[in-house]
Amino acid sequence: MEVFRDIDSLGNYLSAHRCQGRSTGLVPTMGALHQGHLSLLSNALEENDIVICSVYVNPTQFNNAEDLENYPRQEAEDLRILEQNGCHAVFVPDDEIMYVEDPVIRIGFGDMEGIMEGEFRPGHFNGVAMVVAKLLNAVNPDRAYFGQKDLQQFLLIERMVKDLGFRTKLRCIPIYREETGLAMSSRNLRLSQEEKNRAVNIYKMLSRSAKMLESGERWEEVHKEGINFLRENGLEPEYFEAVSAQTLARQTNVFDKNRVALCVAAYVGKIRLIDNLILGGSL
Ligand code: PAJ
Repeated sequence: MEVFRDIDSLGNYLSAHRCQGRSTGLVPTMGALHQGHLSLLSNALEENDIVICSVYVNPTQFNNAEDLENYPRQEAEDLRILEQNGCHAVFVPDDEIMYVEDPVIRIGFGDMEGIMEGEFRPGHFNGVAMVVAKLLNAVNPDRAYFGQKDLQQFLLIERMVKDLGFRTKLRCIPIYREETGLAMSSRNLRLSQEEKNRAVNIYKMLSRSAKMLESGERWEEVHKEGINFLRENGLEPEYFEAVSAQTLARQTNVFDKNRVALCVAAYVGKIRLIDNLILGGSL
């Protein structure tokens, strides 16, 4: 496995492969890799000749300095995991490489970021979009892989790729869960066992809510019960929304033609976790 720390050497490597007619797939990550990331990698390996993973904790998408500081970093372990899982190349830039200067442009998504992560993490999606645009420019892959775990992120990136005319095709990979139902996340590394036991109630709440909606319960009632269920189980919900899994518009009639996603963010102690469930299956 090749490891690149700057854009030019990565570019030379990629051009050599492209000259041979090989297809390329990109898996962007912030490291602290787990099975969720690896399921993106294995999808990428199936569909492309050459797969590049990026590992970069992007400072501009953190709206909380403490969260950025505490974000788990384990580069040597990540490189070992990627090599073991058949990744061909890794891009591990540092801040000087990714941000030669502080960007003056801003990427905004209008109503699509007025709710959920966009509402509670101001500036977050500007940072995500900025770094993903930079990665797409540096790698120019045929396909890029993202997780349904961050559904709003995927839908916004899909929109950016459309609006700015990137040639890369995007793939959205279903949420990989622990046996308990807890969605895998790098932040889970910061949970104690007791907190993990509490965190499983996030997915329990989503599954219960889906069942209630499918049996005809009104969203207002489901929402109220969901929030109560989280609180009763020692979690502090930040939002619980039913949105279109295409436009992110709030849905009150969940039997609309649009696919509906139930999305939640909740605190377990100091750790903020997100999860979602799309009624009727994955994207
Ligand atoms: P990170 O949180 O490391 O996630 C990298 C990718 O893995 C994202 O597309 C995310 O949705 C996906 N992922 C995380 N947990 C998953 C799970 N349990 N199942 C399936 N996929 C999962 O998301 C980011 O990094 C950053 O915002 C990034 C896109 C790299 C830009 O900095």
